[in-house]
Amino acid sequence: MLVTILTLFPEIFPGALSHSLLGKALGRLWDLKVVNIRDFATDKHRTVDDTPYGGGAGMVMKPDVVNNALKYALSGYSGMPEIIHMTPHGKIFNHSIAKQISANSAGMIFLCGRYEGIDQRVIDYWKLNYNMREISIGDYVLFGGEIPAMVVIEASLRFSKGVMHNENSVEDESFANGLLEYPQYTRPASWNNMAVPDVLLSGNHEDISTWRTFRSEQITQSVRPDLWETYQKSRT
Ligand code: ADE
Repeated sequence: MLVTILTLFPEIFPGALSHSLLGKALGRLWDLKVVNIRDFATDKHRTVDDTPYGGGAGMVMKPDVVNNALKYALSGYSGMPEIIHMTPHGKIFNHSIAKQISANSAGMIFLCGRYEGIDQRVIDYWKLNYNMREISIGDYVLFGGEIPAMVVIEASLRFSKGVMHNENSVEDESFANGLLEYPQYTRPASWNNMAVPDVLLSGNHEDISTWRTFRSEQITQSVRPDLWETYQKSRT
């Protein structure tokens, strides 16, 4: 599975992606190619941006430069990868989008914008002709799409076979069944005058499972009424 990042700040990568289980799988189950968008500038100053038509603050990334970088990235694939523009204007990322993205075995290309944004024409062109998606990681603005791309990569690759040691844990955790996960405890059985719930020490798997479902439902209802509503609707 090849993941290509288009960025003006290639030194940010692999960063967090080279650690933990994802890092262990890097080079084995997935590969990372980091491409500097500046390499596709056409003038001697290696210009990647220009002032916005109509005036206003900031700079806009040039369509020809971004287009050439995307074409180069796509030439590294035999199938059609997921092409993803990270932007606060995108669809809000979640568990089910992560699963969809990971299902494309051709891989992923991430376009990470900086400055005030990217010329709209190159975005429209790639959305229309190459099914480019636009994804946001939440309703706030970051300086660029690099950290958001890492979020999407990590959440998506967790669904890829072999990345997690225990394949069951992806389906067992928060959001997989529409609920937040139940609380977890480990030794000691008493800490700071607080005991681990008795049922977890009982060895009765049926009781433990009932308790966990009950606590998942209770937590979801209190912290995420939006998820709780969807969950209840899905069960009727
Ligand atoms: N780039 C800047 N802010 C972003 C966000 N919230 N999500 C995705 N990409 C972004």
